Amino acid sequence: MKPPKFVRGAVARQFGRPRGPLGRFIGRGMARTNASFSIWLVDQVRELELSDTGRFVELGPGPGIGLAHALRTFPEARLWGIDLSTEMLAQSKKRNVDAVRVARLTLLQGDSAVLSGLAPVDLVYAAHVLYFWQLPGQELARILAALRPGGWLVLGYQLRLNMPKLAQLSFPEEGNILYDSDEQVAVLLGKAGFSDIRFLVKGSEDAPEGRLALARTAALN
Ligand SMILES: C[S@@+](CC[C@H](N)C(=O)[O-])C[C@H]1O[C@@H](n2cnc3c(N)ncnc32)[C@H](O)[C@@H]1O
Repeated sequence: MKPPKFVRGAVARQFGRPRGPLGRFIGRGMARTNASFSIWLVDQVRELELSDTGRFVELGPGPGIGLAHALRTFPEARLWGIDLSTEMLAQSKKRNVDAVRVARLTLLQGDSAVLSGLAPVDLVYAAHVLYFWQLPGQELARILAALRPGGWLVLGYQLRLNMPKLAQLSFPEEGNILYDSDEQVAVLLGKAGFSDIRFLVKGSEDAPEGRLALARTAALN
């Protein structure tokens, strides 16, 4: 039996921007259920030949597992985490307090509009944030503008058919956008001006744990 619409809506909104005690609870849940995907995403970034001293940004870090792994994986890099949710920024800070103290990691409230103050950056990555972009073209344009020539964007997501049934139902009810194919994501990225677009899948094609779109800005000749 599916939960009533108001419950479905409340939960879907919490994933898009965790707030209050329920948001903190959901953040702790995401730290468990999304951890291996966040870690895998950062491991794929290692293959991109980015400078060890790069400037990296995670959009929507939620509880901060991906930030923690990026700090470990790229010990010379400077990182920023940008999230709409103050509750999630607090969890990211708690998990990465040493890096925040020495200003290797800065946590900022907001969305992709914040990126212009950090440009140029070498990498922007985001796991399970794509669905909450009401205007994905605008978000991607801001990211493109903030990346240095040849910089990378890595988006982690799940396709609609691989999402839990409740998310398939409740996310669109709340105005979130679900994607049915990598091709749809490729079209968005191409229209925004990204090139070198490629895809990776974590796990089997039948039951993937998630997938990545990797794309970059044009390099200077
Ligand atoms: C579903 S959670 C994913 C959290 C984490 N990346 C993970 O995989 O566990 C989405 C996170 O992105 C944040 N978020 C949603 N839309 C955002 C936006 N436009 N800019 C920045 N953060 C956003 C939410 O507040 C939330 O912390």
